[in-house]
Amino acid sequence: MRNLDPVHYTSPDIHRADIDSIFARSWQLIGPASRLRQRGDYIATEIAGQKVFVRQTRDGIRAFRNVCRHRGARLLPEGTGRCNTIRCPYHQWVWGEDGSLLNVPWWGDDPDFEMSDWALDTVEWDIWRGLLFVAIDPAQSLEAQLGDTIPELADEPLETFQWTCEEVLTFDANWKIYTDNFVEGYHIPGIHPEFHAAIDFDAFSTTAHDGLVRMTAPPKQGLFYRGKWLWMWPNWTLSLFEGGMNTSRINPIDHRRTELIYNFYFADTSPETSEARAKTIADNLQVVREDFEVCLETQKNYESGGYRPGPLSPRHEQGVKYFQDRLRAVSD
Ligand code: FES
Ligand SMILES: [Fe+2]
Repeated sequence: MRNLDPVHYTSPDIHRADIDSIFARSWQLIGPASRLRQRGDYIATEIAGQKVFVRQTRDGIRAFRNVCRHRGARLLPEGTGRCNTIRCPYHQWVWGEDGSLLNVPWWGDDPDFEMSDWALDTVEWDIWRGLLFVAIDPAQSLEAQLGDTIPELADEPLETFQWTCEEVLTFDANWKIYTDNFVEGYHIPGIHPEFHAAIDFDAFSTTAHDGLVRMTAPPKQGLFYRGKWLWMWPNWTLSLFEGGMNTSRINPIDHRRTELIYNFYFADTSPETSEARAKTIADNLQVVREDFEVCLETQKNYESGGYRPGPLSPRHEQGVKYFQDRLRAVSD
């Protein structure tokens, strides 16, 4: 069992192939469907480097490319918001909520121009357990992609948790270096000493299943985590903590820069618990940030040509092997 060759983490060409064959072909976690509560509410984001938006309409959710059919301007600003109409900021074309073109101002005489030819391009969307996913050209259904994640979380009351906030963190390393790091607990003693002190590390267990890597450890007193961390193919995570959970999307910006889009959910969102919730979020993100330096330094060593693939631990790096085997299967 050997680690992947460093070229997989450093080559812009391989990164481009990852985007086309993995990110554009899989379901990407956008966030809680509950953020699209009212008609006109939207989330605009990027998946596989392409701009998309998801919007609540009179007829339910619709998802489109966030790309004007005229000369390609971005229609809605990234982030969340509410809008009555979809009006391109560039030349003011207007689309209805079903994506059909409604108004083309100041166009001039043009007998060949048909409004019906210029509807917005759609993308696919789906919801699982309150989580909203979008896909450009999915290779399989969301359920098939989730695989064993579905039974793994069947008994967890995900729907009772309310979304409270989104936090975005960025760092300078390839998304696969961060993923290799996420799917093993082997580094916990070295990189997260406080977290290490709060779990029974001797009982840390990592197992790979269809579509996910599952890590568990019995928590000792005072740990905010519930002792279960999940990573799902190809790029999202879900961690349960006392009274809530977080999810993250590991989103590549380029071959050596990555953003993590974290969302936090709690069972109790009353004002009395706001301090405790803020501390839980800060503690979670602190553990996440502790991984950045080692990822950055590993990226540099991979880029330097000074690293040859080393061995993977049969006890602690089954998740790394699973992730890398899935990568190999895509590129073969
Ligand atoms: S690019 Fe959108 S109206 Fe021209
Ligand atoms: Fe870590």
